Amino acid sequence: MGTTIIVGGFFGDEGKGKIVAHVAFADKPAIIARGGIGPNAGHTIEVGGRKFGVRMIPSGFIYPDARLLIGAGVLVDPRVLLSEAGALKVIDRVGVDYRCAIIETKHIETDKQDPYLSQTIGSTGTGCGPAAADRAKRTTTQAREVAELSPFLTDTAAEVNEALEAAKNVILEGSQGFGISLFYGTFPYVTSKDTTASQIAADVGVGPTRITETIVVFKTFPTRVGAGPFETQMSEDEAKKLDIEEFGTVTGRQRRIGWWDPTMAKYSAMINGATQVAITGLDKLDPSVKGANQYDELSTKVKTFLREAETAVGVPFTLLSTGPELKEIVDLREEKLEHA
Ligand code: GTP
Ligand code: IMP
Ligand code: MG
Repeated sequence: MGTTIIVGGFFGDEGKGKIVAHVAFADKPAIIARGGIGPNAGHTIEVGGRKFGVRMIPSGFIYPDARLLIGAGVLVDPRVLLSEAGALKVIDRVGVDYRCAIIETKHIETDKQDPYLSQTIGSTGTGCGPAAADRAKRTTTQAREVAELSPFLTDTAAEVNEALEAAKNVILEGSQGFGISLFYGTFPYVTSKDTTASQIAADVGVGPTRITETIVVFKTFPTRVGAGPFETQMSEDEAKKLDIEEFGTVTGRQRRIGWWDPTMAKYSAMINGATQVAITGLDKLDPSVKGANQYDELSTKVKTFLREAETAVGVPFTLLSTGPELKEIVDLREEKLEHA
């Protein structure tokens, strides 16, 4: 299996957390490493009726046997990291690259107070944009200078590459989604960095020759939080009628909801270099499939959707999520992929 990158294909909140957790239990990686921007992310994992939300710790934490690393490219808020590591009881497994840039109180204040960031863009107020700007100005603190982080400091890139050298599996976890990439998204209504698979690999320090699989995660009804164009957005009434409303993990804001967008999905899969697609929310398309684990249990409506979507995107749909719970998924990877 080698290195599997998991990234968001729409505007974030596609359900990467759940997909990472599933792939972790299935593939038993030695390391799950987080790329992406920083604590603006909110990944949700639901297991056995318990719901976890993580912003800094990789969402694969639920799989107990992996090191949980944060790549050098990621912005670290030490308060968020320490509180999550403590609450989830994973302190002994967490490593932070010593080169990570640090989010300070002043970054959070600017993010919340600057009208352009907080209102025009609708940022998450977590300090990521201002910290990324300071990092580009080369004025940020690095993780190695923060006393509270000293027990966690590591060379994430070296750990990951050594694990790959030893033929172990590694998952690289992205955050946010293609539509809010600083490079490829709906500028200026975007986050403060690229969000595509190549960026996630760079964040963690893995070269392009070492990536085995790139899984792009889509949801049946894309969502967007914050300002910016959303071509397939539906009205609040329509979303209410379909009973598919959603609220943000980090900010609690109501997510704007849209119809499946095959054109965006295809473009996103292309730039991410997707080798597989994971799709979440099949139960939102047809509640009768909730909890299904076998392809045969899916309804005609869902199968037709999958066939058309797969044809439009041109990449195998291998992971079919049928509910928020970890076990609510159909995993077709063995069937659909030929591994050397
Ligand atoms: P970011 O990194 O912040 O972009 O988040 P994310 O991609 O990890 O997604 P997030 O957890 O913010 O949002 C996804 C939501 O959908 C969560 O509430 C999940 O529990 C839920 N979810 C995931 N898969 C499914 C599914 O198949 N069906 C339903 N109904 N909900 C799902
Ligand atoms: P920032 O990343 O906090 O600067 O926010 C910039 C834009 O990206 C805003 O529209 C946010 O709502 C959006 N955004 C940032 N992180 C996430 C996420 O994890 N999920 C969805 N949208 C996000
Ligand atoms: Mg989220």
